[in-house]
Amino acid sequence: MSSVKVTKASPFSLAISDIAPDKSISHRSAMFAMLAEGTSEITNFLRAEDTLNSLNIVKNLGATVVDDGITIKISSEGIKESSEILDCGNSGTGMRLFCGLLSSAEGHFVLSGDEYLRRRPMKRVTAQLRDIGAKVDGRNNGDLAPLSIRGASLRAFDYKSKIASAQVKSAMILAALRADGECSYSEPELSRDHTERMLKGMGAEIETDGLTTRIKPMKKLLSPLKIRVPADPSSAFFFAVAAAITPGSDVLLEGVTLNPTRIEAFMALERMGADICYETIDNKYEPIGNIRVKYSPLKGIVVEDNISWLIDELPALSIAFACADGVSVVKNAEELRVKESDRISTVVNGLRACGIEVDEVHDGYSVKGGELKASTIESHGDHRIAMSFIIAGMKCGMHVTDLECINTSFPNFFEIVQKITKVEFL
Ligand code: S3P
Repeated sequence: MSSVKVTKASPFSLAISDIAPDKSISHRSAMFAMLAEGTSEITNFLRAEDTLNSLNIVKNLGATVVDDGITIKISSEGIKESSEILDCGNSGTGMRLFCGLLSSAEGHFVLSGDEYLRRRPMKRVTAQLRDIGAKVDGRNNGDLAPLSIRGASLRAFDYKSKIASAQVKSAMILAALRADGECSYSEPELSRDHTERMLKGMGAEIETDGLTTRIKPMKKLLSPLKIRVPADPSSAFFFAVAAAITPGSDVLLEGVTLNPTRIEAFMALERMGADICYETIDNKYEPIGNIRVKYSPLKGIVVEDNISWLIDELPALSIAFACADGVSVVKNAEELRVKESDRISTVVNGLRACGIEVDEVHDGYSVKGGELKASTIESHGDHRIAMSFIIAGMKCGMHVTDLECINTSFPNFFEIVQKITKVEFL
């Protein structure tokens, strides 16, 4: 499966109950189980490359993992030194959170990943961790993987981050749990808060006050996690856009996390004119429910606030921008440049290749809605770029290449796409 031709879709009405489970929560479930006494039980764990790599690392760190195909049971007797290089694959979340977790563990650890991950900046976590006593190093003075970590005693900290990043926040919270006193972490805008919610649910002493999180070191091991991972809103969002750009269509996205730090892209699509409603059906660690999206003509909008709440969905949202009436503008989104690809340039170049007028600036871009035209788009190894342009293909047909990356987050993506339109694998 190296490339695919997607055919323009006819109006559709679809309920989707098998959206990929949430990637952020799956990574955290595997890692946090190592901080518990007793057996954590995880169902609906995302069985995709990124999160299976995290699970494998947890095994390499000495945890016992029993998987019957439905429930994954993880029990740990503390983090053990591993003779293996800990392979995070393509996952920045995996690498950055493991840095925080391992910086206080006894032993020496090496974290690495694929060619894309080895190019992504790690200093955002390694510099902060070094400041509090961690012994972390890597190429380019600790910025690039492979990273080597020798667990050390960590000092308490009051850290004010300049970026709203859940990965940095989570790495520092994990470090704080074993620091020598109470710590605080502040961020300029609230980033996704699964780490705080899940660790609090496990009994950690963590308080959030606006943009500041206070963490007390663990006095004892935490209670085990019992979690069913909800569907991933950033995976669900591809099909929200598919319905929003296909006249006469509607989609029901089932069992998605409705955590407010994760559904901002749906709110943006709603501001554009799409008809969207939410129904909460459960609340364990965070609210979970269904999202219905119905076609309605779209208009351009400005997206400039709470960027971290929709950062992963911006490529797919940009396909909706291209189909809207008027100009849409994205500002304050420089973080897009350090994702799985430089997503400002991959989105801008991709839309231009499809005949859309786009302007690029250092921290964003503007898109003039128009008529999307079929083209050939390369993913640059970025799963969200591949999937976004496949969704664009539902409007006008599309040829998308370099598709293996989709397995990092959404292995059954094409099964769902094929319920909506015809695809031909080349
Ligand atoms: C994630 C945080 C975000 C997001 C990534 C997953 C997480 O990254 O883009 O896909 O699980 O913590 P940043 O923390 O770098 O913004």
